[in-house]
Amino acid sequence: MDKIVIEGGASLRGDVEAGGAKNAALPLLFACLLTDQPCRLRRVPDVADIRTTRTLLQTLGATIEEVGPHELIVDCSGVREAEAPYDLVRKMRASFLALGPLVARFGRGRVSKPGGCAIGTRPVGMHLAGMMRLGARIEETHGYVDAVAEKLTGGHFIMEMPSVGATENVMLAAVLARGSSRIENAAREPEVVDLAAALSDMGAKIEGAGSSIIEIEGVEALGGYDHEVIPDRIEAGTFLIGAAMTRGDVHVDGARASDLGLLLECLEAAGATVVVEEGGVRVSAEARPRSVDIVTAPHPGFPTDLQAQWMALMTLSDGRARIAERIFENRFMHVPELARMGADIRVANGEAVVRGRERLSGAPVMATDLRASVSLVLAGLAAGGRTEVLRVYHLDRGYERIEEKLGALGASVRRVPV
Ligand code: EPZ
Repeated sequence: MDKIVIEGGASLRGDVEAGGAKNAALPLLFACLLTDQPCRLRRVPDVADIRTTRTLLQTLGATIEEVGPHELIVDCSGVREAEAPYDLVRKMRASFLALGPLVARFGRGRVSKPGGCAIGTRPVGMHLAGMMRLGARIEETHGYVDAVAEKLTGGHFIMEMPSVGATENVMLAAVLARGSSRIENAAREPEVVDLAAALSDMGAKIEGAGSSIIEIEGVEALGGYDHEVIPDRIEAGTFLIGAAMTRGDVHVDGARASDLGLLLECLEAAGATVVVEEGGVRVSAEARPRSVDIVTAPHPGFPTDLQAQWMALMTLSDGRARIAERIFENRFMHVPELARMGADIRVANGEAVVRGRERLSGAPVMATDLRASVSLVLAGLAAGGRTEVLRVYHLDRGYERIEEKLGALGASVRRVPV
């Protein structure tokens, strides 16, 4: 297990490139199960969740070849085994996205139910409701879900709430179903749009991705894709918040303003200067951030995956900021750790009230989940003195070489084996 050691006080300055979006690359890799043709995927981030997915696909019988930096060719022609085992699914909930493609292509999918995680119980009821709408018979025994269907048939599915994973799982099944399907109250995240673009490249017939209504006309078979993953908006947002937090000036290459939802408006409201440039977004700040309330919401609202990072910024603000987490029931694990650094945060009924302080002080802190861990790194950058972030395997799930990227922006950050 490593730790990240940060000597706080430097401003982040310069250019950094956003890598490929982890949360787009994951469903894109599972989409390869839908075809016996090879798929070429570019700008694949080299993070732990991607490595877990590669292992899972290989366990199912796929072959994966690295043909360049961040470039893979995935061939699922050899997939015979339709069971995603517990020890891989429990590591990464997104493995549940294997269910849709397996039952669509092989008539049967057996996937372990994902356990909960630090941020919530993470149920999959909407995924299963969607599969049943497409004619799959679902059985849940011994912690596994079995989905069986001679041939899926198109259906009309209204989701209780716009679940990203459930939207993607149903899309991955409906593209090979007989007849047409309609998903209402679908998730509108950019990662859903990216998946639809690759599925269309494979020959799928999909309309409406990015809106709340997605319509799919099933086809007999799909070919391979040659696709480049969209830039990671959460990584981009993390660096932009870091610029505001350290009174720096950072340009994130690849950041797309339309993907960042309300974040850019909130950064401007907090007093930062935001410039949308050719090929990226630039944020700079000279003064202490103003307090700005946020409520997390499905896209294009404020992304829940940037809530912890925003909280870190607000710990230095000039007043009180309310942060309401409406997507996950337990996504405040970073609060006690930020408090160890001197932050003043009160949590009640899914809302945190942050009273800004002039400065934070460095301290040893514990990462608990992916985005909480990066909020601690941001706090360490702005704090006085040394911060040590332990259990950085959480960070490595979704950020590639973050200590190198931050170091290149002027931060004093190093990874130390523990
Ligand atoms: C995706 O998770 C992302 N992960 C999450 O990013 C992100 O926070 C989340 O979408 C929301 O944007 C990937 O894309 C791999 P949801 P997902 O289904 O699909 C509840 C990160 O840090 N729900 O939109 O699991 C669920 O419990 C990760 O990169 C049900 O109740 O999110 C949650 O409270 C964390 N029943 C809410 O909906 C269901 O069947 C949103 O979940 C499905 C979801």
